[in-house]
Amino acid sequence: MALTRALDMERIRSEFPILGRQVHGHRLVYLDSAATSQKPRSVIDAVSRYYEDINSNVHRGVHYLADQATEAYENARARVARFIGADDPRGIVYTRNTTEAINLFARTWGVATLKPGDEIVTTEIEHHSNLVPWQMLAALTGATLRVAPVRPDATLDLDALRGLISPRTRLVAMSHCSNVTGAIHPIEEIGRLAHAVGALLFVDAAQSAPHIPLDVKALDVDAIAFSSHKMLGPTGIGILWAKPEILEPLPPFMGGGSMIREVWTDHATWADIPARFEAGTPNIADAIAFVEALDYLDGIGMNAIREHETTLAGEALARLGEIPGLRIYGPPTGAPRSAVVSFNLFIDPADPDSLVHPHDVGTVLDAAGIAVRAGHHCCNPLMRKLDIPATVRASFYLYNDIDDLDTLVTALRNCREMFDR
Ligand code: ALA
Repeated sequence: MALTRALDMERIRSEFPILGRQVHGHRLVYLDSAATSQKPRSVIDAVSRYYEDINSNVHRGVHYLADQATEAYENARARVARFIGADDPRGIVYTRNTTEAINLFARTWGVATLKPGDEIVTTEIEHHSNLVPWQMLAALTGATLRVAPVRPDATLDLDALRGLISPRTRLVAMSHCSNVTGAIHPIEEIGRLAHAVGALLFVDAAQSAPHIPLDVKALDVDAIAFSSHKMLGPTGIGILWAKPEILEPLPPFMGGGSMIREVWTDHATWADIPARFEAGTPNIADAIAFVEALDYLDGIGMNAIREHETTLAGEALARLGEIPGLRIYGPPTGAPRSAVVSFNLFIDPADPDSLVHPHDVGTVLDAAGIAVRAGHHCCNPLMRKLDIPATVRASFYLYNDIDDLDTLVTALRNCREMFDR
């Protein structure tokens, strides 16, 4: 039985071919969508259709196919802009993934703007991709990186974050939603604080864009990054969006074809945005197929997806919380959170040394056909703060339902018994 009425689960599942698979003789229970989501048939078909019908390079040819590919590629850009409530598609820059989008912004805006004495504020809960590029930028420019800590309960210390924002701050770079704990951060409020001191707010939306209705105007963020592959689209397409007036004066990220206006042997002038940031032949097929993913999400409705996942997350917290020795990291039910749930299994809840290693838990779950991520989730500082090597992470999406949670809970109870012996 479906957990919520928000979504037509039978229809949705039938549209994701991989969900019909067996793994180790069991129905696949895919709970690793925070790492990458599965793809509906419409997205898979769109990739083939591109190569069968209009494959050609963009912005170069004068022939029919080149025109068609260019039009589809630019229409896709406008579709992405519409999905996040941006008026001007020139603010959308295609990258390979969220990581590249963050690095692109750091190496263009950051290098052009920052000087010694300036501060970048980020947090201890960030994915390495929203931390290391800022470390590298600070080393390159002489700016200082300030990092807001996580509290012992694995939630961000928002008071400390507020306290770090000062007239020296030029940029606050933070995640909208944690890839480990699922916590949703109050980016509107932090954006207001940043703007009050003349700083920009850069949001890593990799874990929110797939799950939460996003409107860059309503949130009043200055730049965001996210990835197609976590939101039903193909791998190899990431998005950097920034206000066009922020992008306009910036230098390029990489040099090569497409990003120039004119080239001499000793110098070159730059193309307008966004072409200035898209050197070389882009990932045309996957950018175009990403449109099908966005149409799929909007066809179901981001509000309905959010409602379904919120109910599922609440149920997961309740059911997992009943398993003896299972410790969940991050916000409790009722706090703003996504359907990402990180946990560890302790044979004796009072003894940290009785931790069943998350990799062992992951392997036992895999044998039951359940795909989860076990590891540090690219968040070493957070793991260090929590004094754990890793967690098991179950991440739910629109194609998961209560039967997936049932299978997970049963497998975890079996796992606990197995290691208790
Ligand atoms: N960033 C992805 C994750 O959290 C890969 O799993």
